[in-house]
Amino acid sequence: MFNTFKNKYQADFENYLSNCIHSDSGTQLEEAMYYALLAPGKRLRPFLLFGVVTTLDRTFVMKAAYPVAAALEMIHTYSLIHDDLPAMDDDDLRRGRPAVHKQFSEATAILAGDALLTESFQQVSRLNVQPSQIVDLTQLLAETAGYQGMVGGQQADMNAEDQSVSLKHLQSIHVRKTGALLKFACVAGGILSGAPREILQRLSELGLKLGLAYQIRDDILDIISSQDELGKPAGSDIAANKSTYPALLGLTQARELLTNELQQCQNLLTEITKIQPDIDSNLLSSFVMQLEIKEG
Ligand code: IPE
Ligand code: IPE
Ligand code: MG
Ligand code: MG
Ligand code: MG
Repeated sequence: MFNTFKNKYQADFENYLSNCIHSDSGTQLEEAMYYALLAPGKRLRPFLLFGVVTTLDRTFVMKAAYPVAAALEMIHTYSLIHDDLPAMDDDDLRRGRPAVHKQFSEATAILAGDALLTESFQQVSRLNVQPSQIVDLTQLLAETAGYQGMVGGQQADMNAEDQSVSLKHLQSIHVRKTGALLKFACVAGGILSGAPREILQRLSELGLKLGLAYQIRDDILDIISSQDELGKPAGSDIAANKSTYPALLGLTQARELLTNELQQCQNLLTEITKIQPDIDSNLLSSFVMQLEIKEG
């Protein structure tokens, strides 16, 4: 079900993304930004945002949400460019292609990340919605992307290399480094569709929980999948002695916790439909189900 929804907007949204970076002057910086942003990512965050908007307001014209979804994908892409740098995870492959610092240079990778981050706020400023919604979205983006969110989580992730951390601490790393941007996807969808505070609160919880689940999943896949399947190096976390759920608990228990977190996401969707009974949560429910890892 979620794939059908995604197929409906994917080409149009990719086209929007491709027009976000003007490479007329053909500088290395613009080329690197375009290379990273247009690489075949799964676009999980934009489509989660679109899924939330559609669920809460069936009449919403999706194009109106493109700038904010593009902003989110730009921030996510910049986080990946920097994440792969030698000073961070030191990975050479991303989205099936050489990482930006390999294709261009380390300096260009740093600057392309910086420029995508800045450009994301330009996108939000271009939204054709109420000024108060633009203010709310700007504030939320700064909070979830910055030191209290993704960047703070990345620093905590780096600090936890070669350390033995508690499960609670690991959870707080995941919730920031990955949960914060998924929270943005969910809450931004709520803001665009004019959802009441009570729903926004549940969407925030849903995003953080989805992020925790998604990082546990990513850490399991790093062990059980291949480079070809992932489009990025496998076994990277063990090589860097990262603190992850499977490293701390073993694969079996990590898988159980993933299932448990995803069930809690489904429960949150049920709560949302209790608050607003005219909502059909099947689309978002199928999004959550996609994050399960099939046995074997
Ligand atoms: C990878 O994100 C980084 C994590 C937060 C685990 P994605 O798995 O969404 O990567 P792309 O966007 O599809 O490349
Ligand atoms: C990265 O987590 C989360 C980000 C904020 C980029 P990982 O370091 O596990 O992501 P991958 O596995 O390199 O995609
Ligand atoms: Mg990392
Ligand atoms: Mg990494
Ligand atoms: Mg990973």
